[in-house]
Amino acid sequence: MQIRLTASKIAQVKVPLMAVPVVRFSVADPQLKALDGALDGRLARLARGEGFTGKSGQVMHLTGSGRLGAERLMLLGMGKKAAEEPAAELHAAAARAARWARAKGIRRFAVALPALSGVEQGEAVHWLAEGVRLGAYRYSLKTGDEKPKPPPGRCTLVLALDGQRDRPSITRELRAAVATAQANADGVELARDLVNTPANELGPIVLAERAKELAARRGLEARVLGLREIERRGMKLLAAVARGSKAEPRFVHLTYKPKQGAVRGKLALVGKGVTFDSGGLSLKSAASQPDMKSDMAGAATVLGTMEAASLRQVPWELHGIIPACENMPGGGAYRPGDVFGSLAGKTVEINNTDAEGRLILADALAYARELAPDLVIDFATLTGACVVALGPCTAGLFANDDDWAERMLQAGKRAGEDLWRLPLTGKLRDQLKSDVADLKNIGGRWGGAITAALFLAEFAGKGPWIHLDIAGPAFLDKNRGFEPKGGTGFGVLTMMEFLAS
Ligand code: BES
Ligand code: MN
Ligand code: ZN
Repeated sequence: MQIRLTASKIAQVKVPLMAVPVVRFSVADPQLKALDGALDGRLARLARGEGFTGKSGQVMHLTGSGRLGAERLMLLGMGKKAAEEPAAELHAAAARAARWARAKGIRRFAVALPALSGVEQGEAVHWLAEGVRLGAYRYSLKTGDEKPKPPPGRCTLVLALDGQRDRPSITRELRAAVATAQANADGVELARDLVNTPANELGPIVLAERAKELAARRGLEARVLGLREIERRGMKLLAAVARGSKAEPRFVHLTYKPKQGAVRGKLALVGKGVTFDSGGLSLKSAASQPDMKSDMAGAATVLGTMEAASLRQVPWELHGIIPACENMPGGGAYRPGDVFGSLAGKTVEINNTDAEGRLILADALAYARELAPDLVIDFATLTGACVVALGPCTAGLFANDDDWAERMLQAGKRAGEDLWRLPLTGKLRDQLKSDVADLKNIGGRWGGAITAALFLAEFAGKGPWIHLDIAGPAFLDKNRGFEPKGGTGFGVLTMMEFLAS
């Protein structure tokens, strides 16, 4: 979708649909006053009649009736929350407009830039532009009549002249904000597409192919290891999980280096790439299997971040590392009671084959640490326990370094994604003791997100490390507000804020 900027009187923009985000409905507001004036007071009357006050989530539709440049008007409530969480509210308002436009087959629409105290124009442009792209997104394999209409081709962000003494100029900074949002949205869309692609279409080999295509497209270095090489290097845990599937595992390592300028540091981004998690011999129930095509969402977040980061040429060296496999109960499957070595050298007793994510991540984290990065970050749909603890909207953050943890939490706030820090309580470490091996792969009944993180900590090495358990927010099992069911691309926007800070 093309996104343009224009400065204009709000009532004069010629467009099939104009969306106007509103904090609090009042005709004292210059934009609403201009619209109400052009409509002979119909805007205020309708708002009163419908009880539209501008509360978050409220929507009011009306026609331009030939009195406005716009054929239709859509008012979007943001409420007072827009001041506290401008990213989330502007995203939501813009996304709702884009989604509605797409559903109606509207090809061109506009969104007015609201004046929010404490929010710079560049930031508002960034969030609105991101929001329209994310809201226009849809994944569908439907054919015939139900095939979704294409997304709108163009969106215009309107800097309203109403009530302004000086004509606002469309600066280079505002144009850069649009470009940033476009790059971020490209990353999120890639992540969503990968998560939404069914597991029969996207196994470990295809996932690695997609990573190679990304590398070719964006000029990244790519290294992909097959089964023989995975075994030869000693990634025994990744090989063990893959054994029950007919699909071979892959291990992906992409490298991004900025083309010019100083490099702030080196980060390793590790993403869980289980393309389908049946549970293995510790088979999941029928009810919990259908969504498990999303168990490679961590890998998708890493690839989406690599895409956006290379488009934006962020000043960091990035290593994207993905252990990819399928967890199946085939004849060769690893069993409860088996013991395997690992790249780090530690031995692991398998107690439950459904705790596979931590196994493949253990090898990937050990590999990542060998690159001597300043920080290792992993993204994983790791535990149902994390969803029980925090609900489906919030990711669990674990870290062995308070400063880096704080920076990541701040980045999440700015991006409009919810992160909550959970403790790496050493007291639960005993739950991972095995009689025969160095560790077993599950703990007891309580604190499942923590024991999973403690397991990873055994392999993440001594340097700074952040683990993000995204089992809740990576995949929606039903529509939530403007967000469609399915892959969300969670984590890409937070990472982009993190890399920009
Ligand atoms: N991929 C799942 C975690 C998951 C659950 C993600 C629900 C998204 C939604 C993971 O591999 C898993 O099965 N974890 C087990 C761990 C248990 C066996 C200790 C779980 O959470 O039940
Ligand atoms: Mn599992
Ligand atoms: Zn899993």
